[in-house]
Amino acid sequence: MEALTFPLDARAWFQRWEAMQTCYVPQRVYRFDLMLYLAGLDPDRAVHILDLGCGAGSLTWRALHIYPQAHVVAVDTDPVLLAMARALRPDATDRVTFVQADLRDGTWWTPYDEAFDMVISATALHWLHAAHLTQVYGRIYDVLRPGGIFLNSDHVASDEPRWQEAYRRLLERQQAAAFRATGADTWDGFWQALAAAWPVEAGEMPRGADDVWEGSDDGETESTHLAALAAAGFHRITMHWRNLGDAVLSAEKPARSSR
Ligand SMILES: C[S@@+](CC[C@H](N)C(=O)[O-])C[C@H]1O[C@@H](n2cnc3c(N)ncnc32)[C@H](O)[C@@H]1O
Repeated sequence: MEALTFPLDARAWFQRWEAMQTCYVPQRVYRFDLMLYLAGLDPDRAVHILDLGCGAGSLTWRALHIYPQAHVVAVDTDPVLLAMARALRPDATDRVTFVQADLRDGTWWTPYDEAFDMVISATALHWLHAAHLTQVYGRIYDVLRPGGIFLNSDHVASDEPRWQEAYRRLLERQQAAAFRATGADTWDGFWQALAAAWPVEAGEMPRGADDVWEGSDDGETESTHLAALAAAGFHRITMHWRNLGDAVLSAEKPARSSR
């Protein structure tokens, strides 16, 4: 199947995407950099990175900036965001392989057995319900080389409902202020504006990823994440940072794999 070509100004729409995402995730870029620097990979080495739920490549571009010799496999199910990503950096085709796939589908993972030094993800895995999240954690373990690291920044709910409710209220207040201050699109507003701008001659805009959504805005609880990572075989599972309902977690595959 031929990849979709993005028929609009990719840079302009990427900026709208970034503005929208930054309103929803107040410390988004800080989270990206925290993950990438914590990984501590050698920037002079041609490391292999997998970005799960890459969207338009925001975290992938940042990874390539910090690890200039890296190669990234960037996976998402949304053809429109992938087309935007490809259009943004035609110069980067030898450094990024974009893959259109559903993370829940086991088949595309198979060729990547122990292929990656690092697996990263931002604001994506909360789209999965707990059973699929557990399955995906198992697959991440399989595609990491022994000694490799997984870093995830996402909505991770508190185990304590009282605190989670408070986090949600405070976050909603921060988000509303950010939208007021910037005039950025909401999620629905972004997709409606993009569909309205999509040129007739490009054919109908393919459906976004909404049909894969099965998660919750809060994400699974911290203990669900930690237990699923441990069950997958990871060790040194560490919560590095939390701001309200957002967190950055890492987990390492033992150098000598036990599975
Ligand atoms: C909020 S966006 C974040 C995108 C990007 N990581 C960023 O920070 O800008 C969540 C992304 O996860 C992708 N996603 C959600 N569920 C998925 C699944 N089951 N398979 C593949 N991609 C998925 C969506 O298509 C969407 O692009």
